[in-house]
Amino acid sequence: MPKYFVKTWGCQMNVLDGDKIASLLEELGYEKADKLEDANVILLNTCSVREGPEDKVFAELSRLKKLKKKNLEILGVAGCVAQQEKNAVFERAPYVDIVMGPRSLSHLPALLRQARDQRAMETSDKEDSLLFPPEILRRSHPTKASVTVMEGCNKRCSYCIVPETRGREVCRPIGSILEEISVAVERGYSEIELLGQNVNCWKHGNEDFTDLLDKVSSVAGVKRLKFMTSHPKHFPLEAAKLMAERENICNFLHLPLQAGSSRILKLMRRQYDRKFYTDLVAGIKAAVPGIVLSTDIIVAFPSETEDEFEESLECLLEIRFDSVFSFRYSPRPGTPAAEMEPVPEIVARERHQRLMALQLGIQTHDHARFVGNTVEVLVEGVSKRGGQYMGRIPETIVVNFTSDKALKVNSCHRVEIQKSHPHSLEGRLADGA
Ligand code: 5AD
Ligand code: SF4
Repeated sequence: MPKYFVKTWGCQMNVLDGDKIASLLEELGYEKADKLEDANVILLNTCSVREGPEDKVFAELSRLKKLKKKNLEILGVAGCVAQQEKNAVFERAPYVDIVMGPRSLSHLPALLRQARDQRAMETSDKEDSLLFPPEILRRSHPTKASVTVMEGCNKRCSYCIVPETRGREVCRPIGSILEEISVAVERGYSEIELLGQNVNCWKHGNEDFTDLLDKVSSVAGVKRLKFMTSHPKHFPLEAAKLMAERENICNFLHLPLQAGSSRILKLMRRQYDRKFYTDLVAGIKAAVPGIVLSTDIIVAFPSETEDEFEESLECLLEIRFDSVFSFRYSPRPGTPAAEMEPVPEIVARERHQRLMALQLGIQTHDHARFVGNTVEVLVEGVSKRGGQYMGRIPETIVVNFTSDKALKVNSCHRVEIQKSHPHSLEGRLADGA
């Protein structure tokens, strides 16, 4: 059997696309290779959100070039870099055979056929890949089934390349969402994650995002329901109320703040200011006591002053997120922010270090609140270091724990927390206790 390897960078949406690409290849009779060197077909499923991830793709391509003299027959670039660079991928790496954008996954079989004789490219932004047949989707995550509910983004944040690569918003009809969820539940997935770049803006007919949460959380067998990515301007408080009411909607919310300064938020075109965000969080915390929050922060956006940066720090101290994904601002070609005056790199690096150090302290302190508690953990596998099981509480925090008895992946257990770390908790099985 011919073998394939799919290598994925980037967001959850891209991870799911990676599973879809792998599923299509398996339908065509390919078998998964254990390593890149063994593959006859390699697809790099790429991310262009920042310069770093994009550079990694071209570095990887030049490493893979030598494999083309061995078993590698077809080398493809998929994902957001493909969509953005189009023909330029062939120019920079002439030994690439396929360029396929994220909305063109269904063209993969045709592209593979064409690539036997000539270069093949499909980067239409008119299509969507929302109707991927759920029966053929093979998921790589052990417990979580991610389900795309909408694709694309209609926002115009001044730093962001996503509207360029993922196109305009398209919502998936509720019937097809529920159908995919039933298939996933039948296959044993009890954790469902609804995905969309701007998931709160999902709508279909008269139904909105809160109705969607209501319907999905009512599907029998859905034990944990999460969703990504929310936008402060569109996250409805009704959704928070539903979260509090329904046991299976996890008390977890990823709500990108991006910056603490209202002037910077305005330059970012985020459509909210600091007060709006902090008021919203106060409302959410009041509706859902104990909710765990995470966020994204961009450090050193063009023209950010020291005082404005410190406003981001103030927000972290005030809100106390459980995790913060922080990035140094990276100019993306063609976006308005790329024309603005950059903050010197040395300043940006130093600010980023300070922000990460502050957040590490917050997480170290706040995770201690779990010590002595018994929590519910869904087992995902063994811990990275081995010797322990690894799983998550409904609020997504990782728990590594010991157990005398053998446990199954995807089973739920009571765990007593004995120790806390900034990025995880540690404990022992307390079933029956
Ligand atoms: N530079 C740095 N970070 C960015 N992000 C998006 N675009 C950029 C950029 N040009 C971050 C945002 C977003 C996350 C997915 O990536 O914080 O929420
Ligand atoms: Fe990266 Fe954005 Fe594309 Fe996801 S949608 S892969 S974060 S550029």
